[in-house]
Amino acid sequence: MRLRHIPGCEEFVAESTSVVHEPEKLRGHWRELFGNSAPLELEIGMGKGQFLRRLSLLRPEVNFLGLERYESVLMKAIQRKAREDEALPKERPRKNLFFLCEDAKRLPELFEAGEVSKIYLNFSDPWPKTSHAQRRLTSASFLKLYDIVLSPEGSVEFKTDNTALFAWSLAEIPRAGWDIVYATHDLHAEPDAGQNIMTEYEEKFSAKGQKICKLVAVRGAGITSPDLSRISQSSSRQ
Ligand SMILES: C[S@@+](CC[C@H](N)C(=O)[O-])C[C@H]1O[C@@H](n2cnc3c(N)ncnc32)[C@H](O)[C@@H]1O
Repeated sequence: MRLRHIPGCEEFVAESTSVVHEPEKLRGHWRELFGNSAPLELEIGMGKGQFLRRLSLLRPEVNFLGLERYESVLMKAIQRKAREDEALPKERPRKNLFFLCEDAKRLPELFEAGEVSKIYLNFSDPWPKTSHAQRRLTSASFLKLYDIVLSPEGSVEFKTDNTALFAWSLAEIPRAGWDIVYATHDLHAEPDAGQNIMTEYEEKFSAKGQKICKLVAVRGAGITSPDLSRISQSSSRQ
């Protein structure tokens, strides 16, 4: 993703009440921030945050955190959330969405074991060079971190337009001991596509006619290699 530095973005993010500053202090105590013990779901690399901004309004019974490592991008998410919040009815303010300016590498410093119910990876940077494979958010090294912070039933949902990254992830995830319980190469053609919430990147790529791939992974009892020929046709189970 090409990034343009926005002057003043660091100060803007530092002053925002939509951002959790020093999030490591809430490790093990995230329910105090939200004032309830609802499930906690996380998007890693949320960009401008459209996915979580929409999801948080649709599912007020779930708590959401968006992680984005660059202030210049996070600033856009904060501004858009603020505009939406202003338009919400005063008696029903949004209380279930906060942002973190953090790198996913720090997950175990931010969350206690089992504290997170679901992790969304939407249109993650592909890191096409083989030598950069461990930087991909679906790599074994990141899956180890998800394994620590996710609850026993926790899952990882991954969407991308990048077929090379998707194919690589379909092989990498079972290699790391996870089961792929759902996979499709054409999410928007699935019968339940109406329930899908589009991210900014998803809107951009699907408008150009690119198909959107999605998989859902859970920790496996053992390593089960998915039947790729079956998966590549359409979906298995969600
Ligand atoms: C290609 S954009 C996708 C944005 C958004 N999820 C979407 O679908 O529109 C990927 C985003 O992930 C962020 N990112 C990449 N690696 C990250 C990491 N390790 N921790 C936190 N954010 C990360 C990037 O800064 C970028 O904003």
